[in-house]
Amino acid sequence: MRPVIFCLFSAVLIYTVTGKFCDESQCKRPSCVCDTQGSPEGLRVEDTPQFVMLTFDDAVNVVNFPDYEELLMNGRKNLRSNCPIQATFFVSHEYTDYSLVHELWRYNNDICVHSISHLPSTEYWKNANQTIWEEELGGMRKIISKFANIPESDIVGVRAPFLQTAGDVTFGVMKSLDFHYDSSMPTRQKANPPLWPYTMDYGYQQDCQITPCPTKNYKSFFIVPMVNYFRKLEIAPGHFLDIPCAMADACLPLPETEDETFQYLRENFERHYSTNRAPFPLFLHQAWFSNPERKKGYFKFVDWLLQKDDVFIVTIREALEFVRNPQPLDNYKQVCKSPKQSTCVSNQCTYSKTPLNGPRNMKCCGTCPANYPWLWNVEGN
Ligand SMILES: *[C@@H]1O[C@H](CO)[C@@H](O)[C@H](O)[C@H]1NC(C)=O
Ligand SMILES: [Zn+2]
Repeated sequence: MRPVIFCLFSAVLIYTVTGKFCDESQCKRPSCVCDTQGSPEGLRVEDTPQFVMLTFDDAVNVVNFPDYEELLMNGRKNLRSNCPIQATFFVSHEYTDYSLVHELWRYNNDICVHSISHLPSTEYWKNANQTIWEEELGGMRKIISKFANIPESDIVGVRAPFLQTAGDVTFGVMKSLDFHYDSSMPTRQKANPPLWPYTMDYGYQQDCQITPCPTKNYKSFFIVPMVNYFRKLEIAPGHFLDIPCAMADACLPLPETEDETFQYLRENFERHYSTNRAPFPLFLHQAWFSNPERKKGYFKFVDWLLQKDDVFIVTIREALEFVRNPQPLDNYKQVCKSPKQSTCVSNQCTYSKTPLNGPRNMKCCGTCPANYPWLWNVEGN
């Protein structure tokens, strides 16, 4: 049994690292950051703040918002800075309630783009041309800005649906539309020790897990690698296999108890915390909390992290600020942000006819557009 499993897994591992060598004497922070599995600027591990990046994908609405509220608007604070913890949201359009996106934003969470259509076809995303990617990403930024009342300049991150980019087509669009970072690219080869975020001045520096991967250089544009998680699977008594996954909720079998969930998250965290303290990804869909035990395990893990005075739960954007300008823990001063006043007067909009199958509702800030916003008509005129 065991050899068969091993063959199966090695057959799907295709390792190609395409980037050119990043020359540290040319590539200088803050605008250019070389890839590293070491320490930034020679920081000692124990002097490096450990950042934790919580992210959630897809629509934001009344189904999942209560969990976000419980996690992020309930007084949880980083121990050393006493700043509220924050998360990053990759938002897709359908079923999103933009008045709730505004709430997340005013609590200083990072709101990012995850496409308009989120069409469930990896072929579509792989083959989409420049025009389509511009509409899906730039259009979604416009939709969020207009209907959640958030400045476009405040929406700087992207995650591709199903992590399926079209390689240089997608990266060219992200760069030309002035997004600042992508977080769609998994790495398995550079998971131990984990890879730090880097800019693409010298190209893509990871294994290509989902083809195509970018081959060109993109000045000052960050990749926040999806450093793989590993889940221990017992294949025979005392024999374990490490099952890798790009997002914490994709590793199977799913942890089912509070303790199993806590241990799973903690083991993966230790691979960062005890090696080079590369920012730790905790990338999920809220549906992972559908098992109440699993949700408890997650919250237990977050609260365990918050007892450490060298751990900071921050947005991806804030982790990147540090990567641009690394400092020893004792010099690092997190600037706390308090919630902004709401500027959202919300309306429930209903559409009996949409470009989709059937009617849709959309809650948004401000007046309802005449039509359901969608590709090629993002303002809903
Ligand atoms: C992309 O494809 C669409 C339709 O599939 C077409 O209308 C458009 O002109 C194409 N754009 C480019 C840049 O090729
Ligand atoms: Zn998604």
